[in-house]
Amino acid sequence: MEIIICPDEARVARVSAAKIARVVAEVGPRAVLGVATGSSPVATYRELGRLVAAGRLDLSEASAFALDEYVGLAYDHPQSYHDTIRRTVTEPLGLSPHRVHVPDGAGDVQTAGERYEAAIKAAGGVDIQLLGVGANGHIGFNEPGSSLASRTRIKTLAPKTRQDNARFFSSIDEVPVHCLTQGLATILDARQALLVALGEGKAEAVAAIAEGPVTAMWPGSVLQLHQHATLVVDEAAASRLKLIDYYHQVQEFLPDWQELDL
Ligand code: GLP
Repeated sequence: MEIIICPDEARVARVSAAKIARVVAEVGPRAVLGVATGSSPVATYRELGRLVAAGRLDLSEASAFALDEYVGLAYDHPQSYHDTIRRTVTEPLGLSPHRVHVPDGAGDVQTAGERYEAAIKAAGGVDIQLLGVGANGHIGFNEPGSSLASRTRIKTLAPKTRQDNARFFSSIDEVPVHCLTQGLATILDARQALLVALGEGKAEAVAAIAEGPVTAMWPGSVLQLHQHATLVVDEAAASRLKLIDYYHQVQEFLPDWQELDL
């Protein structure tokens, strides 16, 4: 796993946006992006928006697949991930709405997982999957205990996740109990994985994911099995990593061809 430790959130955003822009440059305008909700990737989207506005990146022909969705919220509910992705990704980055997909938490949820897997496959798979991480190590909504072989399916949210996300709703009772999420094996199928984490609250999860055993107790640790996974973190989120000096050294001596255009 490549681990990039940045002095602040702005740098995290620049690095992760540059990684995504590089993939689009390599695979072409019809790139397939995996996108995430939550606060961690917000600055990255802002940075991508800046590249689009400057004419350095064109996502008008790209597709996108979101990681997850609540079950039971209308598509236009402001806290549904359908609406969140529209507001934070589709519109500001100039994607074509019909090429942006979010698991169908408001329709037939029993078939939604299979339908979503089929749609990802039909698009040729995800080129780069952007991820945040929960304080309990979840990626997407794959809570601790999730099968490392899981595919898109319905999950029950962990109490901790409902508490964490209650800040977006008027009370915890309004936070849905169920969700749809890409599985851990679905995420591993993406050709690249890019996880961003910010702040002290994520330090334990980041250390477990990067340096702990691969375990369903820290679902993000499955990324250790990915051929091309990168963690971009700020210093607070990196503070519990044991091999921190080595990670800094790797970046200091990065071969020219791996240098990002920042
Ligand atoms: C939600 C999302 C996850 C996200 C997590 C962390 O639970 N389903 O995909 O990674 O929140 O959110 P934040 O980045 O706001 O800490």
